[in-house]
Amino acid sequence: MFCYAGRMTHSLTAGQLKWWQSGIIYQIYPRSFQDSNNDGIGDLNGVTARLDYLASLGVTAIWFSPIFTSPMKDFGYDVADYKGIDPLFGTLDDFDTLVREAHARGLKVMLDFVPNHSSDEHPWFVEARSSRDNPRRDWYMWRDPAPDGGVPNNWKSFFGGSAWTYDDATGQYYLHQFVSGQPELNWANPDVRREMADTLRFWMQRGVDGFRVDVIWLLAKDPDYRDEPRNPDWRPGQPEHNSVQHIHTQDLPLTHAYIRELRAALDEFDDRMMVGEIYLPIDTLLTYAGTPDAPECHLPFNFHLILTPWNAADIRKLVDEYDAAVTRSGSWPNWVLGNHDQHRFATRVGREQYRAAQTLLLTLRGTPTVYYGDELGMEDGFIPADRVVDPAALGQPDVPGVGRDPERTPMQWSAEPHAGFTDAHVQPWLPVAENFTAVNVAAQDVDPASDLNYFRTLTRLRRDSAALTLGTYRSLETGAGQPIQTGPTALTGGSFENTQAGSGVFAFVREHEGERVLVLLNFGAQDVPLTLPELHGASLLLSSQDGAGADTLRGNEAQLWRLA
Ligand code: GLC
Repeated sequence: MFCYAGRMTHSLTAGQLKWWQSGIIYQIYPRSFQDSNNDGIGDLNGVTARLDYLASLGVTAIWFSPIFTSPMKDFGYDVADYKGIDPLFGTLDDFDTLVREAHARGLKVMLDFVPNHSSDEHPWFVEARSSRDNPRRDWYMWRDPAPDGGVPNNWKSFFGGSAWTYDDATGQYYLHQFVSGQPELNWANPDVRREMADTLRFWMQRGVDGFRVDVIWLLAKDPDYRDEPRNPDWRPGQPEHNSVQHIHTQDLPLTHAYIRELRAALDEFDDRMMVGEIYLPIDTLLTYAGTPDAPECHLPFNFHLILTPWNAADIRKLVDEYDAAVTRSGSWPNWVLGNHDQHRFATRVGREQYRAAQTLLLTLRGTPTVYYGDELGMEDGFIPADRVVDPAALGQPDVPGVGRDPERTPMQWSAEPHAGFTDAHVQPWLPVAENFTAVNVAAQDVDPASDLNYFRTLTRLRRDSAALTLGTYRSLETGAGQPIQTGPTALTGGSFENTQAGSGVFAFVREHEGERVLVLLNFGAQDVPLTLPELHGASLLLSSQDGAGADTLRGNEAQLWRLA
């Protein structure tokens, strides 16, 4: 029997799971996927032309980073019309065609919903800033200057500097936790909340199956606008946003009430879902799934694979803790290795560990989200100083590693100029990564041993195995591995140190109604003898390397076994 958010019972079968439980989500950064009109920027018709490729990957849903009307100060995360498509990406008709064609191939379509802030060019904000008594004034968050004329409090922008910008015309500051072109909507105002729920309905009526909700854990703010306490661990040179502890701007109790309202709008429609962007520790994170009586996010995004040091001991501890916590809470697990805010995982963990990491993502219990190009092993691109466009990098020139352009470079389709992303004579909005002549879809498609075909094999194995799709998770004692200790990272990039390839073997079993699959991941470069008693009578399903032996797990190797 199926219950809310995937509470499992022993009689559950793969057919009873929702698509967002049994499936795989694939994130497309539309500017970088495929340019169809030769302006150097990807667009919706470009995606439509690539739908057969997407279907060939064995993924279930495609999520688009924002495609709405926008001045693009944060590349679409600054929305000027929540119900319009930006002309750079196409038209509403193009969108309808894309949805129809995606559905015809069995692919679900998810949009990126950005309810915490709009663009400063949104008509609501234009009205709001026109005078203090404009009816829209209270749709945004305004404060008087401090007695000395300075900012109202010490709240920080994620992109550096204060979260407040002074508005000359009306003599007050407005709040923005990202660029000043992203004023924060006032979620305490019920009119704002009603409008946002209506926006969801608008897109669901057009056939949209789900939403990724941007910075959902930031929606509520301290009504008294109190200063945030200083973070004693912060050091100059680190992002200024981390210099305070965000107890008045993040994870406030009222946020849950707001999310429940959004969820109620979703539940007016069949089989829709939302996944919330949330960077929080596991226990707090899971509260964003809500409860059976008061549901919130179907999936609260779990970014902990990105945030945890890359070695067998730490990753095992993470997976054990998360799996147990999800089971306790009765919610459904999910995992992420990369997105448009984080350095490419092939770069973070290193080429040698790439397949082990991909195998982990696609064999863990829970819905995986895949970032475009990661199926090819795309790495961070090199961005010359004069091509940097990300506001996170431009706003924090002294903080290394915070720029997000490297992970947003064009999709590598072929060895043609600009990797087949756009016409040879056009400059793409970001440079193509240097390795495109070797790492591209055309080359990998015809090579049975490529990363692309390894990815397809993994998605097929996952789909065909009830144990991998919905089975239980249990880790095994391997006795191997010395963790490398390093610090955590956060939203909008971070250092590479925390994800250096470590060591050790991580082994776990997925099991459903007698079917048992063993996953072995060697996080180190050393070969390890295979002595696990579970392997008696087992058959090898897959190895990440050629000519796998029955008695050795080679350095960096991933193996899948069907147990007797
Ligand atoms: C989210 C997005 C990020 C964006 C920010 C502001 O974190 O993932 O790309 O810059 O919100 O909308």
